[in-house]
Amino acid sequence: MDKLLIAGGNRLSGEILISGAKNAALPILCAGLLTSDTVQLSNVPHLQDVNTMLKLLRQMGLRVEQDGDKVALCGRAIDKLEAPYDLVKTMRASILVLGPLVARFGEARVSLPGGCAIGSRPVDQHIKGLQAMGAEIAIEAGYIHARAKRLKGTRVMTDMITVTGTENLLMAAVLAEGTTVLENAAREPEVTDLANLLVAMGAKIDGIGTDKLVIEGVEQLHGAAHQVIADRIETGTFLAAVAAAGGDVTLTNTRSDILDAALDKLREAGVILTSGPDWIRAQMSARPKAVSFRTTEYPGFPTDMQAQFMAMNCLAEGSSRVTETIFENRFMHVQELNRLGAAIDIDGHTAVVKGVDKLVGAPVMATDLRASASLVIAGLAAEGQTLVDRIYHLDRGYDRMEVKLASVGADIARVK
Ligand code: EPU
Repeated sequence: MDKLLIAGGNRLSGEILISGAKNAALPILCAGLLTSDTVQLSNVPHLQDVNTMLKLLRQMGLRVEQDGDKVALCGRAIDKLEAPYDLVKTMRASILVLGPLVARFGEARVSLPGGCAIGSRPVDQHIKGLQAMGAEIAIEAGYIHARAKRLKGTRVMTDMITVTGTENLLMAAVLAEGTTVLENAAREPEVTDLANLLVAMGAKIDGIGTDKLVIEGVEQLHGAAHQVIADRIETGTFLAAVAAAGGDVTLTNTRSDILDAALDKLREAGVILTSGPDWIRAQMSARPKAVSFRTTEYPGFPTDMQAQFMAMNCLAEGSSRVTETIFENRFMHVQELNRLGAAIDIDGHTAVVKGVDKLVGAPVMATDLRASASLVIAGLAAEGQTLVDRIYHLDRGYDRMEVKLASVGADIARVK
């Protein structure tokens, strides 16, 4: 099993190219199921989760051609309307095939994802929405079996804001008969990116980027070309690394306008930020100042950056309160950060972080994707060596993170 060996203490300096967003690429790949034409994608990140999704889609009969960051999908010969347990259990985003399959083929069997490290994460809202659109749904032997001659447009109000739930129902609604109104829709930039692709494929969607999506179903969609949006979480992760370790790094192929909440916190921490249309530069020469925040849905502070910003807070001047409101168990990194010398106490959904003067490297264990990233950041800023174990979590969602960090001067290497 691969590990990352980090010798902390180097300032980071140089340029990093940001990859396409994992959480946009995954639903967008599933949109290839919605048409028999070819969908041409670019800026698709090199990630284990993308490989898993492509494996799943190939098993269904989707033709996939890959060339670097370009992926061409052709859904002419889809013949297996099933997402098996062995793939769904490794990647919950597999649930995103449910909406497109029922919408185009009238049937789907998708394994129910179980709980996961960061919380119980049910998919009841995906099911409720499809039922409201007329799908008959049975839960049989651990599988969601959905059937509908043709889905019918209706008003769907989800009980909470759900990102993949919105994406699934959006992909279902584009081929439904009549008008669907999705209320309480997620406004994450990745949802917007998917909606923009669907419009390019011939879908009729109003209210893109708002919490009310109005979709006029069409008979069929056609092919299109689309560039996946920049990964704002990868961007925020590297910015937090500069804040913690110090340095002067420019991130390219990214956008500052979808990162407002995180950029505000970085400024509050003392990072000097400048940006252009497709780059952000972060300069940090002092110890960060502690920043308190609360995770919320977009445009609030993202739960997917909570762990990385907590790593920065560990070394900050002062104390901070970090409150997680999206997932009930997303503090698995706390015990590991404390092993590096951090002083974090958990009080319900809030972590109270007392900034310490230094962290000292140690072997630590990654527990989920963003927790892994927080351990890497702490390792970069710690004295001595940190060995991060179980980095398969990191490889699921970061495109060659250690290569990118080494290119700006970090002493980091993958060891077997
Ligand atoms: N929820 C339900 N029922 C549902 C759907 C959601 O109770 O049917 C709850 C969840 O348990 C959670 C909250 O609603 O407490 C929000 O979950 P959401 O559905 O928005 O999460 P998701 O769609 O499963 C996506 C990202 C996550 C990210 C969250 C929140 C993808 C593939 N995944 O998950 O990304 O944390 O939205 O922004 O888009 C990551 O990249 O590390 C990651 C975990």
